[in-house]
Amino acid sequence: MSDPLRLGIAGLGTVGAGVLILLQEQQDLLRQRCGRALQVTAVSSRDRYKNRGVDLASGVTWHEDARALAKAAHVDVVIELIGGAEGIARQVVETALDAGKHVVTANKALLALHGSELAARAEKADRALCYEAAVGGGIPVVKAIREGLAANRFERVYGILNGTCNYILTKMENTGDDFDKVLLEAQGLGYAEADPSFDVDGIDTAHKLSILASLAYGTHVDFPGVYIEGIRHIGALDIQFAREFGYRIKLLGLARRTARGIEQRVHPCMAPLGSPISEVGGVTNAVVAVGNYAGQSVFEGPGAGAGPTASAVIADIVDIARNQILPPFAAPSSRLERAPASPMDLHQGAYYVRLTVLDQPGVMAAITAIMAEQGVSIDSIIQRGRAPGAGVPVVLITHETEEARMNQVLAQLTALKQVTEPPVRIRIEKL
Ligand SMILES: NC(=O)c1ccc[n+]([C@@H]2O[C@H](COP(=O)([O-])OP(=O)(O)OC[C@H]3O[C@@H](n4cnc5c(N)ncnc54)[C@H](OP(=O)(O)O)[C@@H]3O)[C@@H](O)[C@H]2O)c1
Repeated sequence: MSDPLRLGIAGLGTVGAGVLILLQEQQDLLRQRCGRALQVTAVSSRDRYKNRGVDLASGVTWHEDARALAKAAHVDVVIELIGGAEGIARQVVETALDAGKHVVTANKALLALHGSELAARAEKADRALCYEAAVGGGIPVVKAIREGLAANRFERVYGILNGTCNYILTKMENTGDDFDKVLLEAQGLGYAEADPSFDVDGIDTAHKLSILASLAYGTHVDFPGVYIEGIRHIGALDIQFAREFGYRIKLLGLARRTARGIEQRVHPCMAPLGSPISEVGGVTNAVVAVGNYAGQSVFEGPGAGAGPTASAVIADIVDIARNQILPPFAAPSSRLERAPASPMDLHQGAYYVRLTVLDQPGVMAAITAIMAEQGVSIDSIIQRGRAPGAGVPVVLITHETEEARMNQVLAQLTALKQVTEPPVRIRIEKL
């Protein structure tokens, strides 16, 4: 047997404690699979005296400063589980790579914003930078796209990448409750943070999508190039109408190569009922990769939580223990392409639009006149209920059109005096 692989864990929160527990409980299995022991030699966290439900074995050095752990002589692999794109997490990763350590992280924000630069740093140091846990929690989707599907060009890659949003949308469908009520409940259950904006505004999904897009298209990670819309504006009525039209609303991250560059979009979508993604409920995540030779692969599983995330972190450690070290993204950094972001205005698709209008004669004519003027054809239009003088919902489904045209239509509809609330627009996806 080779020498043990010495691990330094920075951050002992949900994931860090989960990693310690898994390493303890599965140590014999891991020793067999790696051909060597995995030994935690150093840890760092803010509060030394917090009970984390896990015993630190003797021989583990506690570092007050995680940057000291990152360059400690008795550490071969630094596992960054603090989080955040800047500050201490970034410093730990940079210090570790510069000190010649391998790095494993679950930090999608860090990779989305600095992934390319960190990958170049890792390659220069001839060290690993692994991040399986950063996308899809326990689902081994980074490996699947980078390794298992390496022979494919990807027609598209998309998925449900945020369990909080999927939980909220699923609960809204099951209960008929509105977003605000379900969000409060999700916070009570620990499925949503006190400040839920990273999740419900689509930023977390966008971080993960930018990593997936880079892996699938061999491009530099381009988080600023992601079009982002969250789920706050989705109403219980939209969920109900979606079903009537044969869809389910999902917050998706979608990436595609187009003639104009890489399209990366995060927004609520009408996913056709019966499509694999529409069936994924609750906190579960799923990624669909459509390869030109492999066809469609669907990966589904828990996208977060101590156990699944620790499983992904340790898969990376096992790779390092086996000496399987790859460039962090689809190719060595020097070969990654700097592709432009495909402008969202040029996106083509069909749209669902829900208007709240005063129930007055002539409203439908005014709406259809705007659509005709902008050259957007209507597939169906329905008005629900009668309430003379009050607001009633009118729902339009359009045929395929360009996003810029649709933006014009929405601006004009919003300006109509009979329209009493901002329109809700949801893109319809062919999946
Ligand atoms: N939770 C999940 O299910 C999940 C899933 C996928 C990816 N991730 C990613 O995994 C990472 C960790 O997430 P988490 O949920 O485990 O977060 P968490 O529970 O908030 O844990 C963060 C840990 O970092 C420690 N920390 C904060 N500042 C520090 C500093 N200056 N020096 C040393 N340690 C410091 C905290 O210390 P104290 O405990 O002492 O306060 C805490 O133990 C994040 O990048 C997250 O995005 C999480």
